[in-house]
Amino acid sequence: MTEFMQFPPDFTWGTATASYQVEGAAHEDGRKDSIWDDFARTPGKVANGENGDIADDHYHRWKEDVALMKSLGYQAYRFSLAWPRILPDGRGKVNQAGIDFYDRLIDELLGADIHPLVTLYHWDLPVALPEGWLNRETVHAFEEFSSVAVRSFGDRVKDWITINEPFCPSFLGYGYARHAPGIHDLGKALRVSHHLLLAHGLAVPVVHAGCPDGRVGITLNEGPFYPVDRSPANLDAARHGDGEFNRWFLDPLYGRHYPADMLQDYVKLGALASIEPDFIQAGDMQKIATPTDFLALNYYSRSIVDTGKTGGNFPNNIATLSNPAENHTEMGWEIFPFGMYETICRAYFTYKPPEILITENGASYSDGPDENGRIHDQRRIDYLQSHIESVGKAIRAGVPVTAYYVWSLMDNFEWAFGYAQRFGLVYVDYKTQERLPKDSAYWYGQVAQKNGLDV
Ligand code: FCB
Repeated sequence: MTEFMQFPPDFTWGTATASYQVEGAAHEDGRKDSIWDDFARTPGKVANGENGDIADDHYHRWKEDVALMKSLGYQAYRFSLAWPRILPDGRGKVNQAGIDFYDRLIDELLGADIHPLVTLYHWDLPVALPEGWLNRETVHAFEEFSSVAVRSFGDRVKDWITINEPFCPSFLGYGYARHAPGIHDLGKALRVSHHLLLAHGLAVPVVHAGCPDGRVGITLNEGPFYPVDRSPANLDAARHGDGEFNRWFLDPLYGRHYPADMLQDYVKLGALASIEPDFIQAGDMQKIATPTDFLALNYYSRSIVDTGKTGGNFPNNIATLSNPAENHTEMGWEIFPFGMYETICRAYFTYKPPEILITENGASYSDGPDENGRIHDQRRIDYLQSHIESVGKAIRAGVPVTAYYVWSLMDNFEWAFGYAQRFGLVYVDYKTQERLPKDSAYWYGQVAQKNGLDV
């Protein structure tokens, strides 16, 4: 028996992208390098030596892309601002051409009745900022950038995300060398995570001041950690993984300071000299916990930890186990929709944010056009269906989830994986830049139109 799962009347259905992943025009109109331009140029860092120089050429094709969203029936678009396009030197002189680009995009979206959700920082830090996020001064540079952005666009953009997934630029960027700037030093990762959280906390009042009727929050990537068995070592590794990925960010944002068990772990791992890290200055923790209007979550998968295996994403031999191939997306990420329900409920019932937005969820499958130019990506439809059901169940359990954004509107530059991983609802032919909606693109338009789905 199927049943129609109806979403709340004012629920928003959107899609998401990020500047470096779609814009291209990396050296045009005054944009200077970001740390991702640098990283992509470093041999061996990005698959096939690819980079974001051209990407989806969204910088030139924005009009066509907005028209596409409109024709597919999407109600909202989450995109990020390229800091090095707006403040090419990180601070100081504003590049008018950068402002003009986002002005055009925002006006076009509003004209098409598509709600803009703007992410201030989605990882493309200007290289001009000395020592990047390791330097506490970068926190103030971010305040300056936020202020320029909100003063430029706050008359039309009312929903703001400060930082996207601080876990990635800190732990992946500085701890495990998977992201820019490619450093392998857990102590530095912790310092950077603190600076990112502080930058968020300081940007919240900046957004409110520049856009008094606006709303602001942070986006975290979250997901549960399961031990492979009940052995004390694996239970402890699951606690640690959850601590690093989830609680290290949620706890301080909601006024609980950094988790004590994690501070102790990092001392044991040699990443901190003491459980009172020197990078925390008086007043920081209060600023980080500045109340926000919503919490935004990105969810993709869970992690199963096994201390008997090596090669995982985390220290202490935390590995993501391989399950049967059909249970994975092409990123190798396990399909685990229950984890999305669990993640949303945990964040809401433990930390009590006023509201939750899902700012990313999606799947990488490389299905391309058949002889008729159709793209039958049934596996993506199945992934999205099961995860949207999880969102619906969380709403039924009492969580005020108000929006859902698919990652991504279109195939794009998937960071260290380059262009091989395709997350789009819309297929991009990188030779011609032709956009071709996949079956999932039409399916998702129907979900948005009906404001729900058959389950
Ligand atoms: C998230 C990122 C996003 C995209 C997806 C697949 O971690 O925020 O840019 O790469 O993963």
